[in-house]
Amino acid sequence: MNHSLSELSQFSIELALEAGRILKEGYGSSFSIKTKSGRHDLVTDYDYKAEEYILSAIKKKYPKHGVLSEEAGSLPSSDSEVLWIIDPLDGTVNFAHSIPMFATSIAASFKGELICGAIFNPITNELFSAQKGHGSFLNKNKITVSATDSFEHAFLATGFPYNIETNPEHCIEHLNHILSLGIPLRRIGSAAIDLAYIAAGRFDAFWEVVLHPWDFAAGALIIEEAGGKVTQMKGEPLVLTERNTIAASNFTLHNKILTHLRLP
Ligand code: IPD
Ligand code: CA
Ligand code: CA
Repeated sequence: MNHSLSELSQFSIELALEAGRILKEGYGSSFSIKTKSGRHDLVTDYDYKAEEYILSAIKKKYPKHGVLSEEAGSLPSSDSEVLWIIDPLDGTVNFAHSIPMFATSIAASFKGELICGAIFNPITNELFSAQKGHGSFLNKNKITVSATDSFEHAFLATGFPYNIETNPEHCIEHLNHILSLGIPLRRIGSAAIDLAYIAAGRFDAFWEVVLHPWDFAAGALIIEEAGGKVTQMKGEPLVLTERNTIAASNFTLHNKILTHLRLP
């Protein structure tokens, strides 16, 4: 790699902070909202504005790097080794309804392995970041996953795909099963924030079916660097180029969440 890991990591943080500033500018203002795959899958002017800024900054600094970004898709590149994986606005439905739970999520991978990630919520002013091998941070403070070791005492989070009515990967049964255990569960509406909160020890575990790489890439590295674990739902490693049904945890609870999500 021609660039140092710390340079790429610092750049991912700068991108997330500036994209967040753009989102904050738009938050609560009037903007256009359109639908994408279904009536609840939204995109606003600010998804595009934040993305345009991020993509042009990457193009200017690293013109050869690959890019996979939610609205723009996969952009051609002459360097297949570094890939930027971007969700300019994760939690668009919250943003569109003036709910302050959304974030920009930016990760980079080198030869298919995550090397840095940044998730920024500009309303709470919380920046979660990680560089491979150097731990995870909330703003300037090092973070670690929770120490909860019993599933019965866990605090969980989940999310749902926009086509939940088709019950992809039996996600309704997963939800029924976890609810029937009487375990407290949150649905924040931003997978990036859910994952960042596991890294910070706020949640103990999370699952969601068919997430896109831009939803989980930065969060996965931030969790791993904070001592947690993220896999697909049968325990396989994540694949950064396709949709994954994922389980994330404080590591100690990982086998337990996988077991609970293994339905008959
Ligand atoms: C969505 C959010 C949500 C999750 C959905 C994602 P978007 O991303 O992360 O929490 O449940 O699966 O698609 O559309 O706000 O970028
Ligand atoms: Ca998203
Ligand atoms: Ca998005």
